[in-house]
Amino acid sequence: MSSTSPKPTPAEAETLAIACDHAGHSLKREIIKLLHELKVPVTDLGCASAEESVHYPIYGKKVVEALLARPHARGILICGTGLGMSIMANRFPGIRAALCHDIFTAMMSRRHNDSNLLVMGGRVIGPDLAKEIVKAWLATPFDGGRHQERLELLEQLVRESSSSGIS
Ligand code: RB5
Repeated sequence: MSSTSPKPTPAEAETLAIACDHAGHSLKREIIKLLHELKVPVTDLGCASAEESVHYPIYGKKVVEALLARPHARGILICGTGLGMSIMANRFPGIRAALCHDIFTAMMSRRHNDSNLLVMGGRVIGPDLAKEIVKAWLATPFDGGRHQERLELLEQLVRESSSSGIS
């Protein structure tokens, strides 16, 4: 996740972990279809249907764990608004979850924030826009430079506040 992480193998860098709750299930299916078309390897970590109400933190955590286990891996989470999934994922150091409902934000989340997790709300946007967001997010590299310094500063501030007992 940091600049000092070992270089990923091609498979690690490319395989995308995806999960959703019931409210994101229909959009997740569309996104998985797109990823297949783009030949992006994807691991679907649930949930399995839109019919049964499930708890988004359980499925969000599966993708968080997949990302933390593989430096440079990326993932996608979808719930109703995207809020629950993004709030939960951003509690884990090393996760930079970006809740995006427009293409510009998705691109900037890569360029300036090196987002490793794209979050969307299945009740907020339609599949066509969501697919364009995914394509832009996948294709946009991190700018590095001063943005890398800011990410390192962010991690340092979190470390300092947890060691001083603030959080
Ligand atoms: C489920 O009804 C909904 O609360 C969930 O998908 C998500 O939007 C939470 O933030």
